[in-house]
Amino acid sequence: MTLSPSRPSLVPDDDMTVPVFNNWNVVAAGWYLACASHELKLRQTKSVRLCGQQLVIFRGADGQVRSLHAYCPHMGTDLSIGRVDGNQIRCFFHHWAFDGEGTCRDIPCQSAIPTRAHTQGYATEEKYGFVWVYPEAIRATPRQANAPEPVVEFDELRGHDIVALPDRPLERACHHHICMMNGIDAQHLQTVHKLNIEMQLEMQEHDSGTVMDFTLRGEFPQTNRRERLMRSVLGDRYAYTMRYAHGCLGLLTIMKEVKRIPNLHMIYAYTPLDNQRTRIQPIYIARKRKGLLGHLITYGLLYLTRACYYFLRHEDGMIYDNIEFNPRTLLPIDAPIVHYMNYVNRLTPSGWSKPSSRTDQID
Ligand code: FES
Ligand SMILES: [Fe+2]
Repeated sequence: MTLSPSRPSLVPDDDMTVPVFNNWNVVAAGWYLACASHELKLRQTKSVRLCGQQLVIFRGADGQVRSLHAYCPHMGTDLSIGRVDGNQIRCFFHHWAFDGEGTCRDIPCQSAIPTRAHTQGYATEEKYGFVWVYPEAIRATPRQANAPEPVVEFDELRGHDIVALPDRPLERACHHHICMMNGIDAQHLQTVHKLNIEMQLEMQEHDSGTVMDFTLRGEFPQTNRRERLMRSVLGDRYAYTMRYAHGCLGLLTIMKEVKRIPNLHMIYAYTPLDNQRTRIQPIYIARKRKGLLGHLITYGLLYLTRACYYFLRHEDGMIYDNIEFNPRTLLPIDAPIVHYMNYVNRLTPSGWSKPSSRTDQID
């Protein structure tokens, strides 16, 4: 493997008091998948546990989804058993009403509203058929004012209408930062998936520091029948890009630089669960095309993406259900892993991190 633009040190940065990477006590600031959009009809509430936090998510009369800390600042009733009133949520117990920023707007038994009558509101966005929540408070409109950037996109699809096809989520018995390394572990392409592709690596860290692209490209080998067949269909060269965002989202683009097939896109959304497991939501993405033929092409590409994913998924499952990650002896070919670990360790711990780990990091 050759590296570009520079060859990294093969030891992770060690100047972090509390590493973010593979640390169950830290929740990096970023967009976390809360529920499917269709689970939240107009004026409905939903109770969601996300990254160790109990939230209430509700869809107002205007169709917008909002999320708050679940428990009412009056006496602690879970707001998810309340009802949506216009674009506010009204607590079941004493009917206090809260807007999407968590500010109390109405107390039926008195006109004065105490300043403490406020609960935490979170930036919330709907995209790819899901509701995403950012672990920072909303303090002003527009709604994502406190999230530094929207839910990440594929460059190629920006500005286009897209179709998102979710697959069944799965769980793995390790931290999501470990599961996420799969896309850039060059050695395992050969050992686990039997893909003998010599890969060159290109990396690009975005200015935000929250997004990093890894592109691996190479030439198809022709040492066996399967490889020769792939080469005759797809051409000599192959590339794929894994875009990581916030250490909890992976945007994979495959079939780059091949003949006959357009780029295929899929998203892996990772959510840490309370029992030190990770839920992975795969979502296939394609550009929406017009007309019946366009519809058939779009869905054909979505199902082709799924077929590629299924081809690799089961081989990987064995690894991530049986690993105690400890990178003690890394090789030059493991360079993408080192870059990825260092990128994750530079992410900012959010307010959802456990207090002890936050204090160390913030100081
Ligand atoms: S507990 Fe919610 S209004 Fe009293
Ligand atoms: Fe894999």
